Amino acid sequence: MTAEVASRPGAPAPARADDMGLDLGLLLRGRRVVCVGGGAVTARRVRRFLEVGALVEVISPVLGDELSTLAAAGQLVWTPRRYVGPADLAGAWLVHTATGVTTVDATVAADAEAQRTFCIDATAGGRGSAQVLSSRRVDTPAGPIRVAVHGGGDPRRAAGLVASMAADLAAGLHDVRSRRRRAGVGWVALVGGGPGDPGLLTLAGWQALRAADVVVVDRLAPREVLADLPPEVRIIDVGKSPGNHLMRQEDITETLVREAGAGWGVVRLKGGDPYVLGRGGEERQRLDAEGIPVRVIPGVTSAIAGPAAAGIPVTHRGLADGFTVISAHDELGSVPRRRDHTLVFLMGVSRLGSIVSTLLEGGHDPDTPAAIVERAHRQGQRTTVARLADLPAIAYGVGVENPAVIVVGDVVTVSPHWGASRP
Ligand SMILES: C[S@@+](CC[C@H](N)C(=O)[O-])C[C@H]1O[C@@H](n2cnc3c(N)ncnc32)[C@H](O)[C@@H]1O
Repeated sequence: MTAEVASRPGAPAPARADDMGLDLGLLLRGRRVVCVGGGAVTARRVRRFLEVGALVEVISPVLGDELSTLAAAGQLVWTPRRYVGPADLAGAWLVHTATGVTTVDATVAADAEAQRTFCIDATAGGRGSAQVLSSRRVDTPAGPIRVAVHGGGDPRRAAGLVASMAADLAAGLHDVRSRRRRAGVGWVALVGGGPGDPGLLTLAGWQALRAADVVVVDRLAPREVLADLPPEVRIIDVGKSPGNHLMRQEDITETLVREAGAGWGVVRLKGGDPYVLGRGGEERQRLDAEGIPVRVIPGVTSAIAGPAAAGIPVTHRGLADGFTVISAHDELGSVPRRRDHTLVFLMGVSRLGSIVSTLLEGGHDPDTPAAIVERAHRQGQRTTVARLADLPAIAYGVGVENPAVIVVGDVVTVSPHWGASRP
């Protein structure tokens, strides 16, 4: 049995209100689009047509403000008169009619139909030969995408859904990885993961993770977040701990170059901030030199969040108006010697004794309040406070371990731990 053809060619069945049609991405660059009507609806659509590079002509005796501005700027051609007939539509790939007069719009739609050009009829409630989906472009670290929704005859419902889907994408709720390996080079994001609590990873950092094919992760990064990534995401653990370097820095940088060079999107997930004693600068320079697109996403540094976890502000009115962050591996000769200038040492546990003796020899007041905050914003956080001169003995007595920040200065007195330690 053969199916009966419902209509003659050239006389399609009338569109139904619930007809959702076929979703197409029309490539209108350099193609003529004729818009009849010069009001706000036309202006909204013309904006989109111009965005995608269409050659727009607007036929209308008058134009609203936005269309006037576009016409004056030469971005569209304005024919300042009423619609006269099919000749106005000659050569158009797409027609849009929104005159506000139902009979005129119906005439334009019928003329377009006769010449087999798709027509969006704004007054026909989506029942022209073409419909516009509510849509929005969302830029993700893995490249732009467009979310489009057909509201089933309810454009406001569609617009609401598009807005909430775009917000979800921006919040990193969806896996936006490209499923195809890029033909050329990929990208790298150097992401500061914060001190360890996943809640202190930035939204931008999380978005980058949701777009990554490969994650190269440090020991002190917030590793719990990795459990929420799809299983296909490759995790490369380069976790360095003091005295146990799983991978040398040069090899880590080579890994980034190799993976991104092979077309993958790579997140380098670090503890704290990539640019605070995190070797992010070196990694970036190398990637730049290789022509690999690289983005640095700042993180919450343990140099500030570590003391803060113990209730110590690195500056405090009347107690300190500046602070210095120091790698404990560096020379301490030139650090400020005042109690009202906060010193924060990273990577200092194994050198605590020598740090303190160097400070005291350099003239630091032995009574300067000092603290060590271990595992800040992590399970097992612990704070030890003491006068500077007593800190090594007390800290080693309680078995202080990495990771920890050492804070020296009057700001330590703001911490509840300081008050609790005083008789
Ligand atoms: C190689 S540095 C990296 C610093 C990192 N880029 C930052 O901005 O926090 C590692 C040192 O940061 C400090 N650190 C990192 N996370 C910490 C945490 N959760 N608690 C205390 N100190 C931490 C420790 O001093 C550790 O030895």
